[in-house]
Amino acid sequence: MDVYEAVRSRRAVRGFTDEPVPKELLVRVLTAATRTPSGGNLQPWKAFVLTGAALAEVKKRTAERLAAGDPGDEREFEMYPPGLKSAYRERQIAAGEQRYAALGIARRDEQARRKAVAANWDCFGAPAALFCYIDRGMGSAQWADMGMYLQTIMLLLRAEGLHSCPQMAWSVYRRTVAEVVSPPAELVLFCGMSIGFEDIAAKYARIGRAPLAETVTFLD
Ligand SMILES: Cc1cc2nc3c(=O)[nH]c(=O)nc-3n(C[C@H](O)[C@H](O)[C@H](O)COP(=O)(O)O)c2cc1C
Repeated sequence: MDVYEAVRSRRAVRGFTDEPVPKELLVRVLTAATRTPSGGNLQPWKAFVLTGAALAEVKKRTAERLAAGDPGDEREFEMYPPGLKSAYRERQIAAGEQRYAALGIARRDEQARRKAVAANWDCFGAPAALFCYIDRGMGSAQWADMGMYLQTIMLLLRAEGLHSCPQMAWSVYRRTVAEVVSPPAELVLFCGMSIGFEDIAAKYARIGRAPLAETVTFLD
């Protein structure tokens, strides 16, 4: 698979089969991803990969919190700036509408939406997950490096025939992840990433993108 095809075919997959992801494949992908560039070569990311009993434990404990109506842990970072301005807010709303329309969920069906969101904490059925942390002393440039790292992993997963879904949603139940992962106190959980083989029966929308001219300016 060439890079264009990996980029084109990557999407946030939210339905996985329970087919296990071979450990050697994950090691191959994460070894290749060590080549991700970072400012000053700091490589500021810290990843924990969970499968088997460890991931099952995270899912079980999170499901218990959800069932108890636990709203989640205090925030360590804002997922989005307050009062998202135009055109970001419109893009966010459009993505949600596309997604829920594909799932057949009506705009006002709060219960169905909540159920769809809750699937995050089961990793959408995925048998593997990566939890990506960063040292809390790092700045926005290093958070950008971490984003490159995650995209590199997602593209390499495509080359291996696997799919993924990056999930800031895991930061909501970060203490439960920490109970299993035991990260050093200086680390902040940015996001999880579900990893596995796509359940081709799961409905999805191909989420649109802004026209090139909205985000790129050529000058010559
Ligand atoms: C850093 C990051 C965090 C995300 N967090 C979540 C999440 O918590 N749950 C989810 O379902 N999707 C999440 N997504 C997926 C985005 O919603 C998705 O990438 C976007 O809507 C574009 O859709 P596409 O990736 O399918 O093209 C996240 C994406 C990124 C890059």
